Amino acid sequence: MGAFYRIMSRPLLGLQDSEKAHARSLRILGTMEKSSVGRGLIRTLSRRLVLESHHFGMDFPNPIGLAAGMDKKAQSLLGWQEMGFGWMEYGGITAVEQDGNPRPRMFRSRQDRALINRMGFNNLGAEKMAEILQQRRDRNLWPSVPVGANIGRSKSSTNEDALKDYLATMQALEAHADIFIVNVSSPNTPGLRNLQSGGQIENLLAGVTAWRNEHSKNPILVKIAPDLSDEQIGAIAKVAVDTGIDGIVATNTTTSRNTLKSSAKFTQQNGGLSGRPLRKRSTEVISILYQQLQGSIPIIGVGGIDSGESAWEKLTAGASLLQIYSGLIFEGPGLPGAINRSILQRMELEGITSLNDVIGKDVV
Ligand SMILES: Cc1cc2nc3c(=O)[nH]c(=O)nc-3n(C[C@H](O)[C@H](O)[C@H](O)COP(=O)(O)O)c2cc1C
Repeated sequence: MGAFYRIMSRPLLGLQDSEKAHARSLRILGTMEKSSVGRGLIRTLSRRLVLESHHFGMDFPNPIGLAAGMDKKAQSLLGWQEMGFGWMEYGGITAVEQDGNPRPRMFRSRQDRALINRMGFNNLGAEKMAEILQQRRDRNLWPSVPVGANIGRSKSSTNEDALKDYLATMQALEAHADIFIVNVSSPNTPGLRNLQSGGQIENLLAGVTAWRNEHSKNPILVKIAPDLSDEQIGAIAKVAVDTGIDGIVATNTTTSRNTLKSSAKFTQQNGGLSGRPLRKRSTEVISILYQQLQGSIPIIGVGGIDSGESAWEKLTAGASLLQIYSGLIFEGPGLPGAINRSILQRMELEGITSLNDVIGKDVV
């Protein structure tokens, strides 16, 4: 909850008589207005307020989140918050501990501002992660912003047994995540992306929401690939709503290598491509989803966000929240703050006072 809210609205809520409360809030504002320090405070605090949003029953101080894969072991949750992220996702985590693919498995092209990775869900496994996360809580190192857990399917499992595998991880991490993200779109676990097709996605999503309805209050999001056809995207959106999924993360990395300028040494690496070359398709996927969902569940936009402009593009295409990975690699730790400042400036310029009024405004 923002400091502005605490200063201005707490007195209001604490009093029964709303007129008196209103007067009291105005007195506080009047006092603050009289000094340049006070005015600066109002400006700063209300700026923060304007980027706040509320989804899944949670407050997000700003829309910029850390995308999955950056902090697979949840080693720096508080650090991300200090860096200016309004929320974050750790993982991907699988039920079974995995080494992932042999190294090298991550490649960088400065020319294309892109990464190719074939990590293959290297992670400690759900049980060990739960222990680490509990220790973090015990040492008071838990962030105050929402934390998501990205859940993948173990390589040793099969798509037929996928539900059991996802549920084992969700059960283990239930106390250590505010949001679950069901990842069916990593290109680096053989067959995983087939879970996005017809009956398979329906069974999986119906299964995880049925489990959640009995055992957890956590919202569940599904993360999809950019390489689906527009029809497949529409079909998944329908299944997500029908099965009670709370939001869609669009998108994961792409297997496409179109439009790259780098040499074959980079472009011919197997794995998922992320960063600037993904930007356009990921924005397209968001607007297809937005047109179909009509605001019924939020879209989380990810793919090639590395500037205020690219973030604005995702919001106006229909994303309510955003995430970044590759942009952080190329632009550095100032990126979340710079993007937030840029969004605020753009809102001021266009006379928009609430982030909600930016979402989907460019979709006709
Ligand atoms: C090295 C690396 C590892 C990743 N691991 C995961 C993962 O475990 N689960 C997942 O859902 N996405 C994973 N991603 C995908 C990102 O979360 C994100 O969807 C993708 O990189 C596009 O965003 P970007 O262009 O800002 O990087 C990974 C990406 C990279 C580069």
